[in-house]
Amino acid sequence: MRLGILGSGSGSNMQAILDGVADGSLKAEIALVLSDNPQGYILERAQKAGIPTAVIDCRGFKSKFPEESQQETAAALKAAGVNLVCLAGFMRLVKAPLLEAFPDRILNIHPALLPAFPGLQAWRQAIEAGVTETGCTVHYVDGGMDTGPVILQETVPVLPGDDPDTLHARILEAEHRTYPEAIRMALARLGR
Ligand code: GAR
Repeated sequence: MRLGILGSGSGSNMQAILDGVADGSLKAEIALVLSDNPQGYILERAQKAGIPTAVIDCRGFKSKFPEESQQETAAALKAAGVNLVCLAGFMRLVKAPLLEAFPDRILNIHPALLPAFPGLQAWRQAIEAGVTETGCTVHYVDGGMDTGPVILQETVPVLPGDDPDTLHARILEAEHRTYPEAIRMALARLGR
């Protein structure tokens, strides 16, 4: 199985997936890493591991994922032989034509127990809501904002004294366990 990973930031989830590939616990390879952020550390991490990378040109839009850019992304993933796409901290909403190019084959990780706290900075939303538990979710992408069938979730406690940064760090640790496992489950469903 050939994975394509899309991210916008640090790429720690991409690293967790890569570690799973490297230790043999994830029977797949990362064929291509794409980022809409030329400065994203995810690109550097991938390059250090010898994985092909490219920048997605979003035509100067700050948060929109223009249709043309989605077409180019789909074409780049297809050209790399990708058969499962993983969004790992990718901060733009995926719609057709990317969804249509990979039906039921795009996964996303979100730093909350969906359907709670969709959208940006879910860890901050959890602190502000005063909940005692939050977590992370891996789900199939369906074109909504952090919607789509859930594959796997892990609960994370919110501890007294947590601030957004300490909570996000704890959620990220859970993400790094959850994403490789959810990919394993998705691959098993595809008969791989
Ligand atoms: C992760 O917490 C991920 O769940 C979140 O961005 C962070 C990326 O970290 N994604 C979202 O909020 C998407 N709605 P990473 O670049 O180190 O993997």
